[in-house]
Amino acid sequence: MTRCFSFVVVLGLVLPASAGDAPLSRIGFGSCVHQDKPQPIWDAVSAARPDLFLLIGDNLYHDVIVDKSAKDETLAQKYAKMAAQPGLIKLKQLCPLLGTWDDHDYGLNDAGAEYPHKKASQQAFLDFFGIAKDSPRRQQEGIYHAQVFGPPDKSVQVILLDTRYFRSPLKKRLKSLPSDGPYEPNPDPAATMLGEAQWQWLETQLRQPAKVRLLCSSIQVVAEDHHHEKWANLPRERERLFKLIADTKAAGVIALSGDRHLAELSMIDAGIGYPLYDLTSSGLTQATLKWRKQEVNRHRVMTMNFGNNFGMIQIDWEAEPVVRLQIRDMAGDIIVQQKVPLSVLQPGTIKTSKLARAGDVRINGRPLSPELVKELLKQEVKLEMTVQATGMSANNGLVFLNSEADRTHPENFTVVLDKQAQAALKANGVMNPREHFQGKKIAVSGTLSLFREQPQIIVSAASQMRSAD
Ligand SMILES: [Fe+2]
Repeated sequence: MTRCFSFVVVLGLVLPASAGDAPLSRIGFGSCVHQDKPQPIWDAVSAARPDLFLLIGDNLYHDVIVDKSAKDETLAQKYAKMAAQPGLIKLKQLCPLLGTWDDHDYGLNDAGAEYPHKKASQQAFLDFFGIAKDSPRRQQEGIYHAQVFGPPDKSVQVILLDTRYFRSPLKKRLKSLPSDGPYEPNPDPAATMLGEAQWQWLETQLRQPAKVRLLCSSIQVVAEDHHHEKWANLPRERERLFKLIADTKAAGVIALSGDRHLAELSMIDAGIGYPLYDLTSSGLTQATLKWRKQEVNRHRVMTMNFGNNFGMIQIDWEAEPVVRLQIRDMAGDIIVQQKVPLSVLQPGTIKTSKLARAGDVRINGRPLSPELVKELLKQEVKLEMTVQATGMSANNGLVFLNSEADRTHPENFTVVLDKQAQAALKANGVMNPREHFQGKKIAVSGTLSLFREQPQIIVSAASQMRSAD
């Protein structure tokens, strides 16, 4: 494949800065690479012959202690170490390199908008990626960027989000809770992941024509069960992202993420009209090397739960284009692969979408709101909602019917079926209420109450509920 590049000299290297119009067929990506560690994985990356490589965060480890930032090497010195890696130099001669950052190259573990050195970090990042000194990206707040490669009928849009520069504080979990991560969803309606300017920009990007869109987010978009960093820690922002993809009717969106020191493929019906895949590759040097117990991820399709890795998106642009989502190991072997016809990644593939049905909770015919709950608390009410997810308590056998896919979502409503209700349903032929009500619209009458600040109705008799579809 021939392609024209313009060249910029960066840290003594020659970097290709922009691609020509040849279609991309092989896009590599990875995250979590330490500048002081040997980086043999670049050999496998180069051998996979990517047309483009995306470094999607934790591209080095800076981690200044905020008040003692001069104690160690400067960020520029660390980028210089990365730029001097022989494997990376070779890769840069093979294909263009684009990127975004995560917390460690932004400057500090789990940092967000409050990080005081973010402007300096931005300039160091842009230096490393060879961005001209007079580029508008030098003036922009945050490093988000998008680029379209290839001719219109085989176009790949790379969208690189900045999940750090504007991100609101995360909500910490209680220390007494089991330790599978420090955060829980922050229900604050003002909390942001991208900031308003980046949201407006993203909408503009999603309205650009493109056949495949690689939505690069340093942190996971789809996984929601662990308590480390993820979009689901700001559930309203995650839902806004899904809604934006749905509203813009953007086809071909595939999320790419990193950060987690493991590799996995997750998938969700996010209400965008087709399955939203999130391919996580982490790390290039920082993955857990020993076998790692699989954490809970209800959306997981496949995993490579230990060993350094990189991701590859292979697109076969024949008459019926096919996208292969891959995770490869140090030897370049394909450990995870999902083959998706591009025709599947189009609005309309999934007819009934969760998003379209979410938010349909009505109490006494009025839409759910905190004010309404306050007004009707402890009163007999009539509820209508669609069951998006179900659960069961291991302790007391209660069955939960939730109005949101994520039960911790601030707008979730739970219908609780106690043992009496379950027995009554059984007598009426409903042997498995979780299966029976999943995805159905239900009408419930009962007393409106709160559990951990979330509204609920406890059902004890079958007569209290019916299917409303
Ligand atoms: Fe990270």
